[in-house]
Amino acid sequence: MKIAFIGIGKLGFPCAVALAMKGHDVYCYDNDSRLIEGYERGEVTPFEPGLPEQYNSCRSRMHFCGSIDDAIASSDHIFVAVPTPHAPMHDGSFPYDGVGRNFDNSIIRDCLVEVGRAIGKHAKDGRFRTILVISTTTPGTMVDDLGPATVKAVGLPIGSGWTMVYNPFFIGQSTVVQDFLNPEFVLLGVPQNEDGKVADGGRGEAIARDLYGTLHSQPICPMTWTEAECVKLCYNTYLGLKVLFANSVMELCHRMPGANCDVVNATLKLAKDRLVSTKYMDGGMADGGPCHGRDQMAMSYVAQKLGLSFNIFDAINHGRDAQTSWLADLIAEHRRNRPVVLLGMAFKQGTNQTQGSPAMLLANILTQRGIEPTLHDPVIKPYTEMPTEPAVYFISTRWPEYRGFKFKKGDTVIDPWRMIRQVPSGVELIHVGVGSPTRPATVGKIDPAVATEAKPAKRIRAAS
Ligand SMILES: NC(=O)c1ccc[n+]([C@@H]2O[C@H](COP(=O)([O-])OP(=O)(O)OC[C@H]3O[C@@H](n4cnc5c(N)ncnc54)[C@H](O)[C@@H]3O)[C@@H](O)[C@H]2O)c1
Repeated sequence: MKIAFIGIGKLGFPCAVALAMKGHDVYCYDNDSRLIEGYERGEVTPFEPGLPEQYNSCRSRMHFCGSIDDAIASSDHIFVAVPTPHAPMHDGSFPYDGVGRNFDNSIIRDCLVEVGRAIGKHAKDGRFRTILVISTTTPGTMVDDLGPATVKAVGLPIGSGWTMVYNPFFIGQSTVVQDFLNPEFVLLGVPQNEDGKVADGGRGEAIARDLYGTLHSQPICPMTWTEAECVKLCYNTYLGLKVLFANSVMELCHRMPGANCDVVNATLKLAKDRLVSTKYMDGGMADGGPCHGRDQMAMSYVAQKLGLSFNIFDAINHGRDAQTSWLADLIAEHRRNRPVVLLGMAFKQGTNQTQGSPAMLLANILTQRGIEPTLHDPVIKPYTEMPTEPAVYFISTRWPEYRGFKFKKGDTVIDPWRMIRQVPSGVELIHVGVGSPTRPATVGKIDPAVATEAKPAKRIRAAS
């Protein structure tokens, strides 16, 4: 198949590669010309394990175009994955200010207008073109804004030589190709007329089924544009809710003598019938990344706009800040005038993304309190000097590399993941979420001669 990919950034490029790996010709366009030049030279910008090799395996089917018009002239299917950003202050790296905000839709709207004009220009060439919008939008945006803007730009009604589906992905950074080719389901918002009938006579759904049939046999879920927008954002915010809950268990156990959050969460995970699944059910850092924090803020905006009786999305935003603020309390409690090092800047292991990272949120909260942390990450090189004197180390990203980190005598290690099992003698290890010396947190084979046990933190004041 001939497929255009507009916006080949962190999501778009790996997905374009996945399509080319499956034998499709992919016509890529991005308005960042340096990005395109880099890809043409073989440089793979998104940090994704295995992506350079995957790209090399299918480079002959990846075509880089100088304009949206060029990409569309050659294609029947047009994926659009351009940003729908929040301002950096509102991406989840800074505390939530209590105001829900919609995404900025100007980039996707302008891009779809350009795509629409190109479709209108090439309308007589006999191709039926399908736009597949991937970018995240809040419920109602396709119907109220992006759909009408695109129809106007094409100059023909949906169904007359073209259609448009809302097709967001559920993809994690560092596993984009794998997630795109093995999704839980494919979400397909199809256009409706005002009378509720499918506007393109079912053509968009049939075309998308054919296309995805070349990639996998996972279920396709057709629904309205707006329902698909609801599923996309409710999925991400529900994950945030699970993380928030698991972190509440962690804080509860940390403050409760005789309780270990890993025991409590591991037992809750056995309830696979009623509690759904085991993922995101460990205590640790807050939910984060380029999507989740910002999606929650956008859904808080939708809830405020609709006047929902309880704005659960707002509660997730505030809870995320309060729990991170409590971790900053713990660092302050154990600091004793020593320097503070955050081990990990990325929002999770396996990626170099810091957008919406809970580690950066923690760094910002500490900085607001006058504690300037040193930042370290195995793949992001902040080029800061690590302290030579005893320091407080906080494991802010669950990079496995930190299990072998060389801590030194006089250091304190605060570990919200409970992943550091052993430290040299003279190093204090605090497993967050383990509230009692009656249940030592350092379990397993540890040589008592070289290791000290994890200590529970002292009781500290409640997070404000
Ligand atoms: N990254 C993810 O894992 C992920 C997952 C699900 C959904 N999304 C959504 O997908 C969208 C894109 O996310 P991303 O992470 O790839 O962003 P990104 O910033 O990494 O990439 C977007 C790309 O679009 C390009 N662009 C901007 N305007 C353009 C235009 N008019 N024409 C062509 N290219 C243009 C940018 O130069 C950039 O390379 C967002 O709406 C995001 O919410 C992302």
